[in-house]
Amino acid sequence: MDIRNLQLRDGSDFPCLGMGTWYIGEIPENRAAEIDALHAGLDEGVTLIDTAEMYGSGRSEALIGEAIRGISRDSLYLVSKVLPSNAGGSKLEKSLDASLKRLGTDHLDMYLYHWRGSFALEETVDKMETMVKKGKILRWGVSNFDTDDMEELLSAPKGENCCVNQVLYHLGSRGIEFELLPFLKEHRIPVMAYCPLAQGGGLRDELLSNPVLKEVANKYGVSVMQLLLMFVLQNDNVSAIPRSGKAAHVKQNVEAAGMKLLKEDFDRISDAFPAPDHKTSLDVV
Ligand SMILES: NC(=O)c1ccc[n+]([C@@H]2O[C@H](COP(=O)([O-])OP(=O)(O)OC[C@H]3O[C@@H](n4cnc5c(N)ncnc54)[C@H](OP(=O)(O)O)[C@@H]3O)[C@@H](O)[C@H]2O)c1
Repeated sequence: MDIRNLQLRDGSDFPCLGMGTWYIGEIPENRAAEIDALHAGLDEGVTLIDTAEMYGSGRSEALIGEAIRGISRDSLYLVSKVLPSNAGGSKLEKSLDASLKRLGTDHLDMYLYHWRGSFALEETVDKMETMVKKGKILRWGVSNFDTDDMEELLSAPKGENCCVNQVLYHLGSRGIEFELLPFLKEHRIPVMAYCPLAQGGGLRDELLSNPVLKEVANKYGVSVMQLLLMFVLQNDNVSAIPRSGKAAHVKQNVEAAGMKLLKEDFDRISDAFPAPDHKTSLDVV
């Protein structure tokens, strides 16, 4: 299936759906099913895989490296993240090289600054730009940046080359809609929604039992999980990276990414879990 693309500021296409991989690769007995799940996504046309040096201290990247061995690099969109403690000096390139090695590739499509730490933003941006020049990454972005962080970034030298901001966003956590989401849209920077399924409902379990959500999901012949994904993807400046270690769930997520909610149904679930009408601090996990 063709996955819809968003446009990045550099003019390139960016898939609206990817596969998250936090916790993937951590439990040896689950490895085979997790690799199957990644293959199921790739077979369905999902090219983007989101990982981080932090996930399982490299075990997620290593599992992905194993899963994509022999697959044409051009058919993949690999995203990884550098930890704040490694986001400056000589550390960033060392971290990146280690990620590339675990993934078995010579470049990333996107490298993200996982969250803000003590390095000056200018320093991290400068290192990101150097990695682009060296061809080790094609572009870079940030994660867990609120509006004031984005303003500071966009006013730093070359900060305007930031391509995405990856933040927590799901129906039960809509704080970014008040200010950050409109700000990013105005600057043509897509949101990568993490925890789009509220971690399988774990971050807000009333999502799973809510009668309105169940009713709307039934109407579309989907599960509440799929409905949660449809909700975040309804916004055309948002992409999402649900994680699953099960091939059947990955297929359901692809199916949901190809569906749209009618306005009346979107409004019903939106009213059941309304966005705040004031600025709130950015949710993180
Ligand atoms: N930048 C950051 O700071 C940050 C923070 C958190 C996460 N992330 C990224 O975002 C990704 C997604 O977030 P997340 O992993 O925390 O949570 P999530 O994607 O919201 O939820 C994952 C959970 O949903 C279940 N699931 C997935 N598809 C399903 C389906 N169709 N039906 C039923 N259950 C389903 C999975 O279980 P099964 O395995 O059983 O399917 C898993 O337990 C991460 O993996 C990571 O790549 C980034």
